[in-house]
Order: sequence, then structure tokens, then C-alpha cells
Amino acid sequence: MGAWRSVAHRFGFVEYDGPPLEPLDLYTRKSGAEIVGQLYNFEDKGGREVALRPEMTPTFARMAGARANALRKPVRWFSVPQLFRYERQQRGRLREHFQLNVDIVGETDVAADAELLAVAIEVMRELGLSSDDVQARVSDRRLLTALLIGIGVTEDQLGVAYAVIDKIEREPREVSTGRLVEAGMDRAIADALHELVAPRAYAELRAAHAHRAAAAEHFARLDRYLETLAALGVADWVRVDLTIVRGLDYYTGIVFELFDAKGELRAICGGGRYDTLLAALGDADLPALGFGMGDVVLTELLRDRGLLPDPSPSLDYWVAPADDSQRLAATHVASVLRREWSRSVEYPLRAQSLGKQLKSATAAGARLAVIVHDAVHATVRDLTRRAQCDVELPRWLAGEMSVTTADGSELPFRPDAADSVFDALPDPSLPDNG
Ligand code: HAM
Repeated sequence: MGAWRSVAHRFGFVEYDGPPLEPLDLYTRKSGAEIVGQLYNFEDKGGREVALRPEMTPTFARMAGARANALRKPVRWFSVPQLFRYERQQRGRLREHFQLNVDIVGETDVAADAELLAVAIEVMRELGLSSDDVQARVSDRRLLTALLIGIGVTEDQLGVAYAVIDKIEREPREVSTGRLVEAGMDRAIADALHELVAPRAYAELRAAHAHRAAAAEHFARLDRYLETLAALGVADWVRVDLTIVRGLDYYTGIVFELFDAKGELRAICGGGRYDTLLAALGDADLPALGFGMGDVVLTELLRDRGLLPDPSPSLDYWVAPADDSQRLAATHVASVLRREWSRSVEYPLRAQSLGKQLKSATAAGARLAVIVHDAVHATVRDLTRRAQCDVELPRWLAGEMSVTTADGSELPFRPDAADSVFDALPDPSLPDNG
């Protein structure tokens, strides 16, 4: 979640939070059947129908809409809510998860869509993933609608067509065709639909439908989107894929999902433009777009690639009183290292032999120990390299000490860089020149 926050800040987004419990109708009105079927809802003591939030977007739309007049636009907000969905638990899908939500309000230009996707991709980069690991699949609902109408799908069949396309990769072709025919489509149109969304290069798709005047403005917009993504340095990560329609009802324009490139896992992230939701949930008629990125699939992918940060404890210093009479002196040293040098520090909260303390220090993942002999004298020990250096505490804690290396050069021996000094010295037994 550190990567989520640091990337969101780097792109100028401001963090907000909202209530985890919302009125039930906030979701039944706009989220769509899939999420509504997964709600944790109940009646509260005041007889109100409420639900634990299954997603953040309705809350966001209501909050941003209510304050839209007073806010500088475009509004750039992000949040890391815990969400609850009564799902069938399976790989990548649990009944609660955390989700990074990044949303923009008040901008219709496609540059905003590109900026948004760049945030999601930058999070992948920040975590050490590359375009060989993750691909963004993008589409535009307006383009897909124009193309569907172009091949003969009628307005009232669009809902079924979207539902079929959403599942087309996971469903046998005969089943999809059956559902389309049942909705009143000719078999030839059902076949044309399958061909329309079949995987192929964007240039080819564009050329195949160049004659459809109603799609021209949507292709032009998608061109600009892709050019802007290239300027943002993320073109390698992105491909157009008309099977991406998103299961939620409120999307109106460009939509996208991020997947692992091997296609083994569920979606890592999904989002898009929802230009009518703010008006539907409040008085602010403002365009908006955003995405949600869950922690569950992402953690699986990072584990697969060996990129998950080491969960074992890590500590900069263990401060050890050499004997019981030095406990207060050691406590003081710990507090200076924490406050003045921002080090993570532990010390024993009860009287303990030095041997036992050094074992605890290793178990706690401490790289360095400070063995406090008295208020002035201490030994800084590198627990992994078994090297050590005696220090005068007042000078060391003030950052005024240095050590001499074998070739005679001086290295500052400050509390925030002691480990790198030990690393830099070929001879693990440090000379002590004060
Ligand atoms: P969503 O596609 O429902 O979109 O969820 C976004 C991401 O959250 C998914 O790609 C997945 O990584 C994660 N996720 C969803 N459900 C679960 C689950 N049960 N267990 C684990 N992870 C899950 C939305 O929620 C939209 N509100 C996103 C959005 C924000 N659109 C605009 N702004």
C-alpha cells in the first residue's frame, strides 16, 4: 500500500476517506446486478436498509458531487478503502479486500483517461513489474456500441450483447451464440459479433471498420488516447481489446482492465469513464473517471514473481544496556535514535543478560546493536558481519564521529549510515579513531 500512496501522490492525487456503511439504495440504483447480488446488507436499529460498501465509486461520486462547486477542477482524489463482497471465495476473490481507488472529476478530454491509466501502470512499475508481466486491455464503450449497431445489433439487444461480450472469453462459443440468438439476433449477426471482438491488432480493427462513419469520432478519440499513453511512456503496456466492457453498469466511455500477461489470474485492476453517475446520484452533472485496484490478485502476482517485500521483521537498531544499571541510559539512546535519526529501534523492556538481548536483536531482524556501557561509552556492533566500533555517545548521536579506512580515508560514521560504513570497509574489524 506504500506503493499505491506514493504513486498517487506523485500524480497529484489527494487522499480522502468515506463511510464503510452506506444506504443500500446507493448500490441498488447504479452498480449493476453482479455487485448487488454480492451485497452484505441488513436493517440497522433505526429500520434503515444499509450495506457494507462493496465498492467505493458510489460513495466517491456522492462525496465529490456534493462538494464539486467548491473544488478546483479537475478533482483528483484517491482512497484505499476496505471493501466487502459476498462472493464465492476462490483464487483472487475474497469476501473482503483493500482497493486503491483513483478518480478524476470534471474533465471530458481523453488526456484525463490516459493520465488515469498511467497511474495504474506506474503502480505496477513501482512494484518492480514490467510490461512482460502485466498488460492493460483497453476499449471504449461508445466505439463498441457504434460497431455493434454497425453490424446489425439493435438498440434493445445492446444489453445482452454487452453481457455476452463480458463473458465471451470464459464461455464456450455455442453458449454465447445461444444467448444472442435467444435475444432475437440472427446467427449471422452473432457470428459477426464474435468476429468483431476477436483478438487482433488495433490497426487491423481500425482498417476493417474504417467505412463506418458512426465509429469515426470514437476511433479518432482512441487514437489520441494511445498517442497520449505513448507520450506518458506506457505504450508497451497497452493494447486495444473490445472484449473489455466491465461488469459495472455505470461506465460510459473508455474502459480498461489490467491482467497478468500469462493470463493465469483474475483482473488486477479495472476502471473507466462514468460521465453520468454524478448526476444520477446527486445534483452535480460532471464527467468522471476512475479505477479500482485490489490487493489480492496483485499480492499473488508479486509472490509468483518473487517481488513480495520480505515479511520478516526488520529493525535498524537494538539498543542493549551492557548491564542492568545502564537501562535508563540505553532507553535515552533509543529515544534519540528514533526521534533525531528516524531509525526503527527496540530495546529490552525488562532486565536481561547481554547474550539474551543479542539473540532477541537477531530474532527481531536488527542489523545493528548499540551496547551501552555508560552514559558516554557504547559499542556499535554489526550483527551480520560481526564487526564493531566503540563510540562516544554524545558525539556519535550528534553525528560528529568518523572512522578511518584501511587506505587512510575518513568516512562519517553517522547513526543513519552506520550499516553502509560497515559494508564499505573491506576489513570487518573497524579501526576506532573516535
Ligand atoms: P471492480 O472491477 O469491481 O471495479 O474491482 C476492481 C478490482 O478490485 C478488481 O480488478 C480486483 O482486483 C479487485 N476486486 C474486486 N472484487 C474483489 C474480491 N472479491 N476479492 C479481491 N479483489 C477484488 C470496481 O470496484 C470499481 N468501483 C472501480 C472504479 C473506481 N471505477 C471507477 N472508479
